[in-house]
This record gives sequence, structure tokens and C-alpha cells, in this order.
Amino acid sequence: MTQADPAGPSWITAAVRALPPYKGPTQLADFPSGSRIHALHLNECPYPPSPRVVAAIAAAAGQINRYPDIPARALAAALAARTGVPPSCIVFGTGSDELIHLICEVALRGGDRVVVPAPTFPRYAMSGRILGAEVTRVRIEAAGANDAAGLVAAIDGRTRVVFCCTPNPPSGGMMDAAALERLARGTPDDVLLAVDEAYYEFGRHAGGPDAAEVLRSRRGAWVVLRTFSKAYGLAALRVGYALCGSEEVAGALRKIKLQYNVTSLGQVAALAALSDEAHLRTTLDNTARERQRLADGMTRLGLKPLPSAANFVSAEAPMAASSCMTELQKRRVLIRDWRDPDYPNHIRVTVGLPDDTDAVIAALGGVLAARAAPLQARA
Ligand SMILES: Cc1ncc(COP(=O)(O)O)c(C=O)c1O
Repeated sequence: MTQADPAGPSWITAAVRALPPYKGPTQLADFPSGSRIHALHLNECPYPPSPRVVAAIAAAAGQINRYPDIPARALAAALAARTGVPPSCIVFGTGSDELIHLICEVALRGGDRVVVPAPTFPRYAMSGRILGAEVTRVRIEAAGANDAAGLVAAIDGRTRVVFCCTPNPPSGGMMDAAALERLARGTPDDVLLAVDEAYYEFGRHAGGPDAAEVLRSRRGAWVVLRTFSKAYGLAALRVGYALCGSEEVAGALRKIKLQYNVTSLGQVAALAALSDEAHLRTTLDNTARERQRLADGMTRLGLKPLPSAANFVSAEAPMAASSCMTELQKRRVLIRDWRDPDYPNHIRVTVGLPDDTDAVIAALGGVLAARAAPLQARA
């Protein structure tokens, strides 16, 4: 380069140069060790994993000199038995995060379009942009679920992938089987339909459908994404999986994924987590109870929480969500704004332990009262 290029060096693709600098979320490691912080901003599971998981990791720790089993055979067989999807159509990722990116890599090039709900998990749009695709945003329904008809209507001749997420963060709304069916039927066969069910276990507990079951009758390409990061509490181990509608879809993902992406400790931990149904049931029951307490607490503060089938609750605050977040952080409570210009006042709070619920409601009450006081004094 003879002249300084303000947009960055030419070895960085234009799509990557156009992205804003990386700014991750606040993490517990940002605080002095030992400080009690209520981390309700990442939709993590507040409960430790099943003791079977801890034992399985300990038992496998002595063999980590060997590379992991590439197809994760034992885990794939266990998931196949539960889902009816054959092991040849199950592909694992370093979290479902990675699988989202792989889907974009196999399907998207410059000039293509990807349809995504808005707001939703930001990774779909981010990966689409990195691959040079244009992102078409489809507003979620007022109650917070993805809009099947809207997603179908947004598909055009350049669309290669449609992402859908149910239950959807940050809103919490869930599609019913009929809506998923409309989406499956309305998406052309040569467009890959990717349904992200990161919050699947919570959604089922709340009476929701199984997207893989619904999509089974679709002729065209489809994939359903799930993860061990949420209800199973294995976020740090990074194990996600794709249930693919055909060997063609699974084969494409397998061709490009990094060979040893899921560790052996992740594989044994996920297998052990699947075996402890009582532990999962307790997590889901506790989450449903605390979700209700959280929503009730928000209602008492004058907010209108959106119906949620996941491990978080959202509501519109009477102030900028970013200020609400900052004020709560001063009170040692971490929550998240919706990060969407169309919803500047919406906040999302992860369902935590009972004392997290008490802490966030008390702190939120304090923030809202402090904001109301000068307004009342002026009136
Ligand atoms: C909708 C959705 N999809 C995918 C993920 C990524 O999960 P992981 O990469 O931990 O499996 C998340 C994490 O918050 C999510 O909310």
C-alpha cells in the first residue's frame, strides 16, 4: 500500500472491513474475583451441570492426549435415538454459534440474500455479512414470535438461506407447529431453511412444538440447530448440533467444518447430560417457576413483560435500555438491552436463581424510582 487506506488494508475483505470493531459482552472476569454479581445478561443456565457430567469429564480427563472422535459417534447415536434423525445427518459444532457460521459459509456468497427475523440472535446477520450477503430483516410479531408469513414474503430469487429462531431471543416468543409448517411449506425447496432451537428444552417444557418433527415433511433443504449450552448448562464446553434434513445438507457442513471442532470432554459431558433426565427436569421446572416470579416482579414495577417460553424475560422500560443496563450494573446486576434501533427501550433479563430474581427486581425498582423522582419533582 503506497497510501494509507482509511478503510483498512486490501488483504482484509471489504465485508470484514465494513464490520464495526469487536465488542463483546461484559463478563464475570471483568469484575474482581469473589464479587457477587448477578449475571443475567447471557441466557446462561444458573445451575451447575449434572454430577454425572462432572464425573464423566473427570473420567475422560486422563485421555486428552488423543484427538477427539471426529463424528462424535456415541453422542450422535444418543441424539439419533431421541430425535429419529440418523447419525449421518447430525453434525456437531463448537456451540451452535459455529454451525450458524458454517451454514452461511456453505450457502452464501456476495450478492446473495439471507432472511432473518428482527430482532433475533445477531450471529445470523453477522455471519451473512461476513460472507458478503445482503441481510433482509423481518420484524417479529408483537407478541415476540417469528412471523412465518413475513419471512416467506421476504424471500426473493437471490435468497439462499432463511433463518428462524424459536423461542426467539430477545423476545422469548415461540412459534406453534402450524406457523412452522407454513414457513416450511412457503420456503422454496432450493432455499436452506435453518431453524435455531437453542432454547428447545425450555420451549418443549412450555408446551411448544419440535421443529425437527414439523420440518421432516419438507421436501427442500432444512436444518434445526440445538445446543448443550442452555438447559443442560454446558456453555463453557461449546457443544452444539445440527439436525439436518438430508445427507446433502449434513455432508456440505461436514466438508467445511474444522475436523476436531468438538472436544472429547465436550462429547462425554454432553452424553452424560443427556443421560440425566431428572437433572434436566429440575432445571426446567426451576426455570419456569423463576420466570414466572421474574415476570410478576416486572409487572408489579409497572412493566409489561412479553410472554416467554425460554430462560429470559423481556419488557419495554420507561427509559433507554442502555441507561437501564448501566444503572443496574452499578447495582451489580447485569442485564442486556435488545441492541435493535427499533426497540431502544427494551430490556432482556435472564432467569437466574431465586436470589437473582429478588436482586434484579429490587435493583430495577430502585432504577425506575430514581428516574421517576426528578420527573415528579418537575411536575
Ligand atoms: C438463539 C441462539 N442461538 C445460538 C446461540 C449460541 O449458543 P452456543 O454457541 O453456546 O451453542 C445462542 C446463545 O445465546 C442463542 O441465543
